[in-house]
Amino acid sequence: MNNTATPIDRPKRPLWKSGKTAILAAAAVCIGVLIAAVSGAGLDEKNTFEEGAFESPDRCLSCHQEIHSQWSGSMHRFAWENAFYQPDYLQASRETEGFTDVFCGECHAPIARRTQQLPPPDGSRFDDISKKGVSCDYCHTVREVVEPVNVQTLSEPGRVKRGPRGDGNSPYHDVEFSEIHTDPAFCGACHNVVHPTSGATVIDTYDDWKQGPYAEQGIRCQDCHMTPGPGVEKNPGKSSFMGEERDHVATHFFPGGSAFFHDRAGNSDKAELARKMLDAAAEIEAETKTGEDGTELLVRVKNIGAGHKIPTGVTYIRKIWLEVTAYNEAGEAVYASGHPVDGNHIDPDTVFYRKTFRDADGNPTQKSWLADGIYYDRRIAPMEHDEQRFVLPSDPDDGIAALTVRLLYRSMSQEAANGWDIGEITVPSIEMARKELEIRQ
Ligand code: HEC
Ligand code: HEC
Ligand code: HEC
Ligand code: HEC
Ligand code: HEC
Repeated sequence: MNNTATPIDRPKRPLWKSGKTAILAAAAVCIGVLIAAVSGAGLDEKNTFEEGAFESPDRCLSCHQEIHSQWSGSMHRFAWENAFYQPDYLQASRETEGFTDVFCGECHAPIARRTQQLPPPDGSRFDDISKKGVSCDYCHTVREVVEPVNVQTLSEPGRVKRGPRGDGNSPYHDVEFSEIHTDPAFCGACHNVVHPTSGATVIDTYDDWKQGPYAEQGIRCQDCHMTPGPGVEKNPGKSSFMGEERDHVATHFFPGGSAFFHDRAGNSDKAELARKMLDAAAEIEAETKTGEDGTELLVRVKNIGAGHKIPTGVTYIRKIWLEVTAYNEAGEAVYASGHPVDGNHIDPDTVFYRKTFRDADGNPTQKSWLADGIYYDRRIAPMEHDEQRFVLPSDPDDGIAALTVRLLYRSMSQEAANGWDIGEITVPSIEMARKELEIRQ
């Protein structure tokens, strides 16, 4: 593992600097094939429906109560209204003169997009259904995933609800077995994001999974994110009170790392589930060697529980890092790395695990819409590990007696939070893994 950036060489060109048509024209010339593959060309017309074509989740509530209650606190429910999404989205809209409105909305408000309630970006034309983000009837009326990236899917809203079985009897709708719903590519349609003009990889959770050991073993996204929680694989019961008894009913919490979001929403059980996911993802091993030059600490961080790299998703907003604290006999800290400095920022001289972008001029940026390539990428692949050596100060009269190493997670960096117009917030650090060592002098 290393700290270096992985540059992708591509000729420089303005991304959003001119008007919409000029951008499209320039992009089409540079990467004509790519844009056709990733921007939804050809699908738009097929995916255009009347307002009200998709049903409200309220309709499903009466028969699928439990699934509804799980989903209604999930990040999918809040994909549009999310207070951390909105400021980023509106900033993108302003800075690109609206170019990103539909692109972002395709994932964060797929029903709004497909029923032509977007643009304008402020959601003023949204009906109640559209506001509810990624909801039941978007997912269960997908007929085909054309390509698992940038929502390249075909919708067929109507009486037929597609799912993993097809053998149930519902008085309200028809059911149809749909292989794609049992396939991670279904998730990949949204959990793989490619920048529509520069081609930079924004989110690669699906590709990561696909190339990793879990895909090989047939362990799907659904097996980790649609079960009761880490270590609990089965959820026996009925998906509807009118339905058959099943040995596993897919849960709809979709837990990830967003404990902070759920805590703010007052949803403590969902926050707890997110903490369990973070806790299940990683493990730390550490050992020290004391020689003439002082104490050396070797830390290994293992990705033991995530089916993709850690971190994954919007890693340019989130932050995972190593915190090291060394104590003397008296219990006083004599060395620290990865601690907060002024204003709750993490000391920049820290071992960070994340992926960030560079813009067209090669400068780092946390604005996904300016991404032209990768600036920094240090993440831990599934079932693999990362190693880091620390050289600790040595004082023969006041040696190191104990060490604490922690892997910490933030849903967003403090810089990202400060940049959004959402009032003052102090982003909490959540522990993913911890190791304590005692040192005999
Ligand atoms: C009148 C009750 C009722 C309503 C309302 C209802 N469903 Fe169902 N649904 C059922 C029953 C019963 C089953 C069969 C469950 C079983 O036997 O496992 C079912 C099964 C399903 C399945 C599983 C398909 C499969 O076999 O894989 C999906 C998906 C589904 N419903 C989606 C929806 C959605 C989306 C809505 C709201 C738009 C909805 N349902 C509204 C009763 C209902
Ligand atoms: C992000 C997409 C998504 C959303 C949103 C979603 N589902 Fe599902 N649902 C799925 C997938 C995928 C499966 C199949 C999981 C599997 O193969 O293990 C599923 C399974 C089901 C099943 C069958 C469960 C079983 O195991 O028998 C029902 C019923 C269902 N969903 C109803 C709903 C209802 C009702 C809502 C809204 C309250 C909803 N879903 C929201 C993706 C979604
Ligand atoms: C229509 C697009 C779409 C589909 C399909 C979809 N997702 Fe998502 N998913 C999203 C978006 C958008 C978010 C981010 C919501 C937010 O944070 O505002 C998200 C968030 C998540 C999270 C993060 C939760 C957290 O705590 O941060 C998980 C886990 C997740 N999805 C799993 C899945 C799985 C598993 C599937 C397939 C069964 C799936 N998703 C299908 C769009 C989608
Ligand atoms: C072996 C279990 C496993 C599989 C398979 C798996 N995940 Fe995860 N996933 C986890 C764990 C554990 C976490 C929590 C650690 C983290 O947030 O990085 C997580 C986190 C996430 C997050 C939240 C990331 C964040 O911090 O914002 C998303 C989104 C997600 N997974 C989507 C997916 C999708 C999509 C797939 C399939 C392509 C998938 N996962 C496959 C275990 C799994
Ligand atoms: C093809 C699907 C897709 C598109 C297009 C997309 N996103 Fe997302 N977005 C996601 C997924 C999936 C996640 C969740 C990943 C995770 O949990 O780490 C997400 C999460 C986010 C989050 C983090 C929210 C949180 O809960 O912390 C922000 C902010 C965001 N997106 C902004 C944008 C903006 C701005 C655009 C347009 C420039 C955009 N997204 C376009 C799929 C998409």
